[in-house]
Amino acid sequence: MTKPEITALLDLGDDYLQRYQDGTPIKKVLKDRTQINLFFEDSTRTRTSFELAGKRLGADVINMIVSSSSIKKGETLIDTAMTLNAMRPSALVVRHSASGAAALLAQKVTCSVLNAGDGSHEHPTQALLDALTIRRRKGQIEGQIVAICGDILHSRVARSNIHLLNTMGARVRVIAPPTLMPPFAENLGVSVHHDMREGIADADVVMMLRLQTERMQGAFVPSTSEYFHYYGLDAKKLAHAKDDALIMHPGPMNRGVEIDTVVADDIDRSAIQDQVETGVAIRMACLDALCNGPLP
Ligand code: NCD
Repeated sequence: MTKPEITALLDLGDDYLQRYQDGTPIKKVLKDRTQINLFFEDSTRTRTSFELAGKRLGADVINMIVSSSSIKKGETLIDTAMTLNAMRPSALVVRHSASGAAALLAQKVTCSVLNAGDGSHEHPTQALLDALTIRRRKGQIEGQIVAICGDILHSRVARSNIHLLNTMGARVRVIAPPTLMPPFAENLGVSVHHDMREGIADADVVMMLRLQTERMQGAFVPSTSEYFHYYGLDAKKLAHAKDDALIMHPGPMNRGVEIDTVVADDIDRSAIQDQVETGVAIRMACLDALCNGPLP
């Protein structure tokens, strides 16, 4: 997306968040529309967040449980999507372990498709909610030094954040052991670090990522305790960032692996709960924009 498109979605999401927090009535712009959530991978916050977003806008929301659907009987992804499409939903929200799954479905169906995470490729609404969280807490995205630390190699959250933050003018750094860094990561327009203290020095935002063990075959780190020693965020390492650095994590967190409890629960600096709240508002903005026409 372009900078004006991103800004328009962030503005709309900000408006929805403000209205919800103030208790101002929200127009049911998805009344009489159907939204189907099709999640092939486990999810707590993203699925609930999309469900709540649709419901707050008045949509009829259906959650497909993959384990009890015909997918288990051997139906292909495309056939499942075509079947659901024939029921005339306005939006299909898809999470799948294969990179490109959402883009493939978007070519086959007539409704709007929202990518809720495709393999290790992208997680666009996560990047949008992270951007809005940063903008609300820091005032702007442009010029912020954002250090993304952890399993960059397998992370769709990292990839989407890198694209979005670069487009918005932030300075992005990635930090990981060599085994968890994508080859030629610098080609993504980021500075690459293997030493955490160096990577988070003077950072405005420190974004921690989970080890995506479900996408690993074999061992990528010697042990989780050694990983925490070098790459886990604790108060000592955080001291290298700016004094008011924001701590972020998309969840689910593995405490004691990539983040220390004291840091994760720091009520002044941790934005982790804000990210969850902002997520619902951003997904309302995305559903509204996709189902009701282009943004201004
Ligand atoms: C992320 C995901 O699923 O990619 N979580 C999320 O959507 N909140 C990150 C993760 O699973 O670690």
